[in-house]
Amino acid sequence: MAGLHVRSLLVTGANRGIGLGLVQHFLRMPKPPQWIFAGCRDPKGQRAQELQNLASKHPNIIIIPLEVANPASIKAAAAKVGEHLGGSGLNLLINNAGMVKSNTLDTETLEDMSEVYTTNTIGPLLMGQVRPSPKLGCAGGA
Ligand SMILES: NC(=O)c1ccc[n+]([C@@H]2O[C@H](COP(=O)([O-])OP(=O)(O)OC[C@H]3O[C@@H](n4cnc5c(N)ncnc54)[C@H](OP(=O)(O)O)[C@@H]3O)[C@@H](O)[C@H]2O)c1
Repeated sequence: MAGLHVRSLLVTGANRGIGLGLVQHFLRMPKPPQWIFAGCRDPKGQRAQELQNLASKHPNIIIIPLEVANPASIKAAAAKVGEHLGGSGLNLLINNAGMVKSNTLDTETLEDMSEVYTTNTIGPLLMGQVRPSPKLGCAGGA
């Protein structure tokens, strides 16, 4: 990513693991993005503490409440991003949020499979459809 310059990006699941590592990576770039939108489903929770600390030192990090398995949350997040970007568009979306449920053939359930599929497959699809818009809040993917 040495030659990459992005003005704005959104990372889902940015509060820990690889997502938080990506936020830190972009901060360390020679020309850091003007906007780093850090999607996090529980911004006030204990698991977001490290991200909160980072954001308090870097004003270009904007923590956005975002649950990728919830279309209403995605729309609200897109509206918030749109407010900051003012119609200039998002340069990069990193669909990082994801989960695993370690089940076996005997223990697998419809609920667990549905949750994993919704989070890992439908969530990224919905994220790719939505458009940040300062005026409309969010428009469907056209
Ligand atoms: N680590 C690996 O070796 C590996 C290998 C292959 C693929 N991956 C994929 O890479 C991604 C990151 O992996 P990781 O190891 O960093 O995972 P991780 O440490 O488990 O972190 C997952 C992140 O996704 C968030 N998340 C989970 N479900 C979400 C939802 N419904 N809405 C919004 N955020 C949600 C979590 O938020 P909470 O803190 O709120 O739970 C957390 O921020 C995942 O998609 C994973 O499947 C990882």
